[in-house]
Amino acid sequence: MSSSSVVGLRAGLQPLWFIAPLAAMTYPLPLIAFHSAIEAARAAGGGLALAAAALSLAAAFAAPAIALVCATRLLRIESPSDAELRARRIALLAVAAPPIFTAVGDDIYMLGNPVPDVAALAAFWAAMIAIIAAGGREAPPQSVPRSAPAWLRAAHGAVASMLLVFVAAHLSNHLAGLVGPDAHRSLMKTLRHIYRAPVVEPILVAGFLFMVGSGGWLAWIHSARRADGFRAFQLASGAFLLVFVTNHFNGVILLARIHLGIDSDWSFASGAPHGLIEDAWNIRLVPDYTLAVFFALAHPFAGLRVVLQSHGLRKGLADGVAVWGAALAGLLAIGIVLGLCGLRLRFEQEQGSGVSKPAFLAPSSGTGSTPRAVPRDRPFAPLAPFG
Ligand code: HEM
Repeated sequence: MSSSSVVGLRAGLQPLWFIAPLAAMTYPLPLIAFHSAIEAARAAGGGLALAAAALSLAAAFAAPAIALVCATRLLRIESPSDAELRARRIALLAVAAPPIFTAVGDDIYMLGNPVPDVAALAAFWAAMIAIIAAGGREAPPQSVPRSAPAWLRAAHGAVASMLLVFVAAHLSNHLAGLVGPDAHRSLMKTLRHIYRAPVVEPILVAGFLFMVGSGGWLAWIHSARRADGFRAFQLASGAFLLVFVTNHFNGVILLARIHLGIDSDWSFASGAPHGLIEDAWNIRLVPDYTLAVFFALAHPFAGLRVVLQSHGLRKGLADGVAVWGAALAGLLAIGIVLGLCGLRLRFEQEQGSGVSKPAFLAPSSGTGSTPRAVPRDRPFAPLAPFG
């Protein structure tokens, strides 16, 4: 390529196109900083190290948040060029930076750690940046229908409504972790009689795979068109769930049950014996799990908003359903992840009344009683991978 054509190509590049993949590429850095701060706090104590740890963990949520903002701005463009459309779709994918990092970690681990997972992740996002840069400055070829087929939207919503029964039970199971590992285990044991039944489990897995396929198709079609903030959130949360659900099966079925041959129970989910907070690998699961629960509940509320509007509900009320649904999802996500990190809700009997009431929230020392037999031999390598 001549130097004048390189200059010409560069002249058309917009910084906004690259912010989301760059943020996703740097996503592991605050997690590494968090681990160093936790180690420092453990070695020398001190509020400064704990404050640095808290800031680093908060910063890990910045990558998906920045990607969401970029995707929202790119989705406002009425007639995007080929490069803008690529940037828009890759920004939506970058919202899934947490499960992508977990997936890369799980897969690199199962392949025997041929390269560091952060290097593999950087290579992935570098490829995404190259794909955007190679995009044309003219309008993209019209290869997708202008609107999604009605049957596809209806089937996506109908299957989602059925799967929400499992999701509600599954997340209630994880919420029970706030009471303790035993409460989580006994509820899981009961629920497994249903969702692990030979006729139920394949239907459940097929249902989720249908959601991944149909959701991916819907997102592809809708992302070609201009969208408002609500639609951008729906697309971004869907992109996140697409990656999360795929990797969740990878983690639960392939990695735990087949590769490691261990039970995918509380100990596995909470990264026992070191837990989610103190383990260099497991800390990536904190943003991943938090956003997974948040998006798994907020995404259907965003879909409900569209359905309610199409049935004539006032826009303000329908928007309120999505916003309050997202707020509720956020609260549940925080509760579940705090439980997985070791926070416990204890109940005390009020003297003479026979009534149990929540007494206080206290950090628990252990995250599980069955240590997971996973090798723990590298500083930022998959020590207890799961997704
Ligand atoms: C805090 C977040 C989450 C954690 C810690 C978690 C953990 C787990 C664990 C430990 C299992 C294995 C259950 C067993 O062995 O019986 C499992 C299975 C499963 N999870 Fe999750 N999960 C989370 C969120 C989600 C979300 C948001 C979804 C759906 C969008 C989901 C969908 C599933 C499905 C479909 C299975 C497979 C059930 C089976 O066939 O055994 N999970 N999860």
